[in-house]
Amino acid sequence: MQDEIYRMQQDHIVDFAFTAEVASVFPDMIRRSVPGYELIVPMSGLMAAQHVTDDAIVFDLGCSLGACSLALLKYCQSDSLKIIAVDNAPAMIDRAQQSIRDPRISFLKDDIENVAVTGANVVMLNFVVQFLEPAKRDALIKRLAQEMAPGGMLILSEKVSEQPAPDVGASYAELHHMWKQANGYSALEVAQKRQALENVMRVQTEADHNQRLHQAGFCGVRQWFRCLNWASFIAYTPEISGTGQ
Ligand SMILES: C[S@@+](CC[C@H](N)C(=O)[O-])C[C@H]1O[C@@H](n2cnc3c(N)ncnc32)[C@H](O)[C@@H]1O
Repeated sequence: MQDEIYRMQQDHIVDFAFTAEVASVFPDMIRRSVPGYELIVPMSGLMAAQHVTDDAIVFDLGCSLGACSLALLKYCQSDSLKIIAVDNAPAMIDRAQQSIRDPRISFLKDDIENVAVTGANVVMLNFVVQFLEPAKRDALIKRLAQEMAPGGMLILSEKVSEQPAPDVGASYAELHHMWKQANGYSALEVAQKRQALENVMRVQTEADHNQRLHQAGFCGVRQWFRCLNWASFIAYTPEISGTGQ
């Protein structure tokens, strides 16, 4: 279904939330709003599939309609794979549960802060941290590093803030605006959506994310994707080193 939520002029813009209305148009909304989403989803599935072995445990935190889990299910043939897809928006997780029928996935309607990822071989955390209270982000990433299995892989995708603004040429924000209009959104739709997100989506710099991952104890941190202000990182929990005996 086409996203027309911000098409008409609104007298009062309410803060953006993952409501039933948003869930009903979400695939179209995110595809036309997030540069690279259509590559990040299959690549998340592929990278996760490449990393897992038999009996792997994978968490898809903030799964929305389960696009990244679906990609992994497609690329991983193992019957013993176990995916736990988590989202606290009822409209999202209910739809995901209704549409994905595979015995390898289970769904959890909960806040990711309440969910232990004990022994996870892969955690997918795509476009979710940007919606969390900034003060809670360090603790979440640190806990993931502590709870995941040794050698586990985290896939983290985020909108990042542009720093510094360019001296010459268009800013990434301006280019993003143009890209959304090229995707069929009007200037009014772009402006109203931006206003709705202002208080709920607080983005940080690429350096902030890198530093947080390192401080939490992740290693092998790499940014594998970047388009305008959208980035995706992979990072690993350290392997347990031998006793040396
Ligand atoms: C931009 S969407 C994520 C898209 C999804 N990962 C994908 O790749 O298609 C953000 C999702 O995170 C969920 N979310 C935000 N904060 C959350 C929290 N504290 N606990 C659980 N889910 C959360 C929202 O309900 C929403 O479905």
